[in-house]
Amino acid sequence: MQLRIYDWMDRRLKLKALEKTLLDEPIPGGASWIYVFGSATLFLFVLQAVTGMFLAIYYAPTPDHAYDSVQFIEGQVAFGWFVRGLHHWGASGMVVAVGLHMLQVFLYGAYKPPREMMWIVGVILLLLVLGFAFTGYLLPWDQTAYWATQVGINMVGTVPLVGDFLARVMRGGETLGALTLSRFFAIHVLFLPAVIILGIMVHLFILRRVGPAGPWDEKKASAKREAFYPRQVYMDAVVMLVVFATLAVLATSVPFPLTDKANPSDTSFVPVPEWYFLFYYELLKHVHGPLEPLVTWVLPALFITTLILWPFLDRKVSRSPASRPIGMTLGVVFLLVVFSLLGISLKNLYAVKRTDPAIAQGKAVFARFGCAGCHRIHGEGGAVGPDLSYEGDSRPDREWHHRHFKDPQSTSPGSIMPKFPLTDQELNELTSYILSLKKTAT
Ligand code: HEC
Repeated sequence: MQLRIYDWMDRRLKLKALEKTLLDEPIPGGASWIYVFGSATLFLFVLQAVTGMFLAIYYAPTPDHAYDSVQFIEGQVAFGWFVRGLHHWGASGMVVAVGLHMLQVFLYGAYKPPREMMWIVGVILLLLVLGFAFTGYLLPWDQTAYWATQVGINMVGTVPLVGDFLARVMRGGETLGALTLSRFFAIHVLFLPAVIILGIMVHLFILRRVGPAGPWDEKKASAKREAFYPRQVYMDAVVMLVVFATLAVLATSVPFPLTDKANPSDTSFVPVPEWYFLFYYELLKHVHGPLEPLVTWVLPALFITTLILWPFLDRKVSRSPASRPIGMTLGVVFLLVVFSLLGISLKNLYAVKRTDPAIAQGKAVFARFGCAGCHRIHGEGGAVGPDLSYEGDSRPDREWHHRHFKDPQSTSPGSIMPKFPLTDQELNELTSYILSLKKTAT
């Protein structure tokens, strides 16, 4: 029965010819797990499109309602939290998949003739993906979204001549507000999808015209030819399943709570970008003054230009990594720098999160009672009493500090340190703070 329907349709739509074109594409050297990242990226794109459509049913792109509508999706809509979770982690997955796909292509020299155009379109697709990430980040309209976007637009603003203009176009005016949100939304759900679908089509069209590259070893490449179906299709499908399962687990088990609703007047908020921008955020933190434009636009511009021109800069005919020492070294150095910066950034963030709130309170008590008048901490304060920079290391005894603060003379006879009227809570907070003063900062 099934076959008869298929035959019936085939006579009208010529499906069998289509099936042949789709599935019989020969892969030089045969199917391999290393080729799965392109289709994993495509799968993630479809997933983002579908989850995005469902989110758009409830999402309202105005400063008054955006935040509440996301909270509504999260708390009231059936499976809203799951769809939003998939979309959130799917964006991360997309960055990972694109990264791995590019690494594979880079390692295999698959950008070399005749595939330069496929590489260039690929770089444009990467930029579009980052565009999705940037515009999507603003949509929940919480503090993080608002202030991280502010930072991003300010970076664009540092580009000479056109920066100001671009920043104003992105904001839709002088300030980040209702107009910004609606244009980010339109770009995220209408403009970018249209452009990226076109880009994906061109990317795949070129792939079908030139064929997949296969192994860099010509002998291996020509030794075996295997059709796309069934083994490569099977491998791609398995990876898609694994990707979906991973996202589903992340969506159910790792919370990513909204911060407070965006408050344009609270300039003290320090935004943290998504993890895939963190390495750059770390770099930004350390470069100030006249060197700042270097990081805000020169470096990214240089990087993208190099990436686009890469097939023409690396002119060796051989695709083997061994014959491309400069390219390989650059690649490894790039990865080392990115992952070191990411590591440093994560370590700093994690450290901040772990800090006991009592420590911050204790620090305030320390300031309130003027302890710094007699004690120095990291070069600040008087020298009447001992330096307390590493007090947590030299005297880690909580009990001792309690007794000492209640009555300095009880533990240190003849001490000139005054008895302070501390409440029990202040006493605890102060002790927590003093004990946190260690060489290995927590
Ligand atoms: C008038 C100066 C003075 C002020 C103000 C003062 N201290 Fe002291 N502090 C001392 C002196 C002197 C000592 C050394 C004698 C002792 O242990 O009491 C000392 C000792 C300490 C020690 C123990 C250091 C050790 O030996 O391990 C700690 C901890 C300390 N102070 C914390 C504080 C805190 C917290 C405050 C504010 C609530 C404060 N001090 C205010 C003079 C001062």
